[in-house]
Amino acid sequence: MNSKEIRNKFITFYNQKEHKTIPSVSLIPENDSTLLFVNSGMFPLTQYLSGEKHPLGSRLVNYQRSFRTDDINDVGDKRHTTFFEMLGNWSLGDYFKEEQLNWWFDFIINEIGLDPNKLYQTVYLGNDSIPKDNESIEVLKKIYTKHGIDAYEGKEMLSGSPKEEIDFSKFKIFSYRDKNWWQRGDAVGELGGPDSETFYDTGKEHDSSYGEFCHPNCDCGRFIEIGNSVFMQYIKTEDGWKELKNKNVDFGGGLERLAMVSVGASSIFETDLFLPIISKIEELSGKKYSENVVSFEIIADHIKASCFVLGDVRGVPPSNKQQGYFVRRLIRRAIVYGRNIGIESFSVDLVKEVINIYKEYYPELVDNYDFVVSEIQKEEDKFRKTLDKGLKEFNKIESDVISGKDAFNLYQTYGFPIEITEELAQESGKKVDMDSFNLEMDKHKGLSQTASSGMFKGGLADSDDLTTKLHTATHILLYSLRNILGDSVAQRGSNITKERLRFDFSFERKLTDEEILEVEKMVNRIIADDLEVTKEEMSLDNALKSGALAFFGERYPDLVTVYSISGLSREICRGPHAKRTSELGSFRITKQESSGEGIRRIKAVLE
Ligand code: ALA
Repeated sequence: MNSKEIRNKFITFYNQKEHKTIPSVSLIPENDSTLLFVNSGMFPLTQYLSGEKHPLGSRLVNYQRSFRTDDINDVGDKRHTTFFEMLGNWSLGDYFKEEQLNWWFDFIINEIGLDPNKLYQTVYLGNDSIPKDNESIEVLKKIYTKHGIDAYEGKEMLSGSPKEEIDFSKFKIFSYRDKNWWQRGDAVGELGGPDSETFYDTGKEHDSSYGEFCHPNCDCGRFIEIGNSVFMQYIKTEDGWKELKNKNVDFGGGLERLAMVSVGASSIFETDLFLPIISKIEELSGKKYSENVVSFEIIADHIKASCFVLGDVRGVPPSNKQQGYFVRRLIRRAIVYGRNIGIESFSVDLVKEVINIYKEYYPELVDNYDFVVSEIQKEEDKFRKTLDKGLKEFNKIESDVISGKDAFNLYQTYGFPIEITEELAQESGKKVDMDSFNLEMDKHKGLSQTASSGMFKGGLADSDDLTTKLHTATHILLYSLRNILGDSVAQRGSNITKERLRFDFSFERKLTDEEILEVEKMVNRIIADDLEVTKEEMSLDNALKSGALAFFGERYPDLVTVYSISGLSREICRGPHAKRTSELGSFRITKQESSGEGIRRIKAVLE
């Protein structure tokens, strides 16, 4: 079955079970200072999983473009990518384990056609405060029985490789501890829960370098995880995990992996989601994928991921900061691996293949085609100018430890992202002195690499008090800018940390000092007026008709939430917001700058 059929079938299957489809949101999170990229389907649903009512009801389904920076070093093993699509379904305090597991098995066996004998299931083993998931085990046993399989529970898997060979024809259900607990980040307020993962047996021989005996969660690649049902029923508090009011289901399954197992391929790169890209790389390099797996997968994945970040409705060009730095790293790493297999230039050719695969589902890639191509091409041209010389410099280094100064020189003069230097070092049995590299970096720019690399790991949407107030201030700011500069002003981006708001909007020139003062004054007057912030749910049509502002290019569900500030500001938005404007305190603009052609950026604080 090809990926289109799987994607469509998944949505239809859950629609028939009364799930409403929600859109795939932008890869670049808005108003979240802790996460660089959306990394799972549950990302925009945190507040609803916490108990707030979702406008579309308690059963939802979608396919969500996702990006996991943490997986970058696993690309090359035939089953990992940075960019992927997650098929997701959710119960917001509605159905629970019984329905979730039954429907999911029904879907993969009866709709996708997977052989139930090849399916293995893991569940949560429990710890001191949270019990073992015996409920799922009972449900699963019945499911296997329904498919004519006498399923037994294998030994509890406390750590690593088992002590003896497992009879996989008999044992189908396994419990693990850490591997069967899912949470997005570690902060207080984070949601989490035991999960139940489904593995497919590819039949590949076990690789004993991963441990003497194989088990479903072994990293050798025999078993591949194709879906994860998280029973999201806990919230992290200062005193540990506490039960939520709602028992939720948060399911996610990788489309690429389902596509792979459904056609019996041995790599996700041998599915329709990658094959045209792989063929193009074969054509450009004159080499075979099967003989150059790692290079091919890195190039295909990284260029695809770059297309999605650049072609996003909030597309980010390569730079030295945050998401931009990641795009730079992806493109440059693809170029280094391309060089290994003799490719001189690939941008335009590969971008075309990527867009062709996805245009039906992500039309913004087509709309932003010129931007994507020109940014990747620019980055490629820039890096190719220095790459050969940089490699020569690198090869001159004799010591086993590459000093901070040398690494910094490779970064600064030859444009080598530090992670690439580390990788090259590793390949030649060397190490980079990272502490001294970071010192050089700080000395040079004060650029906070540590802050941004901390963010790659993910974390909770920051909805505490201060960010909530800054979010409301952002709405008042947009209203005031439009009032003072005219209705052509539209939001182009927003990012909020605990310290400040950052707001990008369309406007052709720098604001004068008087205009900045005027904007500040208007925002502060609205705050002082102690206006009420109200929230309504309505159809997207009615919201737009009622004059609510929407973020250009974003796709919204049919039912949306509109936040209004007493007849002044009116925006389609997911919240959260302050209840009254007087809670905000005093508003001050700290900086205005350009953020691209025709786009201004304002940073402001509440004091
Ligand atoms: N949120 C869960 C995951 O990403 C489904 O695995």
